[in-house]
Amino acid sequence: MNPKFLLAIESSCDDCAVAILNSEGDVLADVIHSQIKPHSPFGGIVPELASRQHLARIALMVDAALKQAALQPNQIEAIAATNRPGLIGSLLVGVQFAKGFAQAIDIPILGIHHIEGHLLAGFGEPDFPKPPFIGLIVSGGHSAIYLVDEAYHITTLGQTRDDAAGEAFDKIGRMLGLPYPAGKEIDALAQEGDAQRYAFPIAFRSKESLEYSFSGLKTAAKLMIEKLALNEQEKKDFCASLQSTISQTLLAKAKIALQRHNVDKLVIGGGVAANSRIRADAEILRAEGFHVYLPEKKHCTDNAVMIARAALRRFKLGEESGLDLPVRASSAY
Ligand code: KG4
Ligand code: ZN
Repeated sequence: MNPKFLLAIESSCDDCAVAILNSEGDVLADVIHSQIKPHSPFGGIVPELASRQHLARIALMVDAALKQAALQPNQIEAIAATNRPGLIGSLLVGVQFAKGFAQAIDIPILGIHHIEGHLLAGFGEPDFPKPPFIGLIVSGGHSAIYLVDEAYHITTLGQTRDDAAGEAFDKIGRMLGLPYPAGKEIDALAQEGDAQRYAFPIAFRSKESLEYSFSGLKTAAKLMIEKLALNEQEKKDFCASLQSTISQTLLAKAKIALQRHNVDKLVIGGGVAANSRIRADAEILRAEGFHVYLPEKKHCTDNAVMIARAALRRFKLGEESGLDLPVRASSAY
């Protein structure tokens, strides 16, 4: 099918997002309710709180998206929702709302994998590459490298053994006294910092490995913060050095994957892809001849446009799920 108007819901974690696309893939609505405020006193996401927030917001967000697109509910011809992986309670709210919507106006529903959403956040944009490409998805919950083949099949090539890159940003930021989520704050402080000042450990340097590990970096950062009693400038230098290390680590492995699979296109996504150092370092790969696609910053962090884009591609292939669509916490494909 080729839905004239497609509505998509993303509620896998702490953002309650709704988007509407037309059949051309144009974004008619892109709304998001962030839960940073209720979770920040806890320094991370509290799952039970997240699902209650989604429940309170979801209908209002769908309403806001319909208003933004100037559409009536019964003009929507297909609906999609993230159904895996994520926090079960949060996923349930978005998927169940989508089922009710689909059943009420008798339209097809499709469950979308959150990582497929991140990988296809730019799908349809003029500079978005045709597969095969390597995907690097780095967020608060994921740090992994994927191969997306000609048929858009996704294979995981390597992932973190412990913390995700965003988790490392958030946890180290907390040690520095920065508010949650700290990635953006570290990025801002790093703008006036000296990235050469502090040396951090890099795990799995070996060319063979496509795995990441950020727990050693976290421990090193903790010891440095305790020992050094950083002043304001040193804090900025620390942030600049930290994000430079994380960026180099992430991109070095992505480059190994590109070379190993003889692919010259790289798509980066997930909240950490909004990081200015990663965006700057991507230029080095471009200068080496690789095509590097980075979504605009607001579509790096969780959003529903990415779910809508992934869904539009699948609906056009004739796929749909059904009203028994399950939710899953795990990221297995
Ligand atoms: O993709 P996302 O919104 O949610 C998950 O699926 O996890 O990513 C959120 C993560 C947080 O860890 C946040 O600190 C990080 O992305 N982040 C950043 C930046 N903006 C968001 N990390 C580094 N630099 C940034 N500018
Ligand atoms: Zn995400």
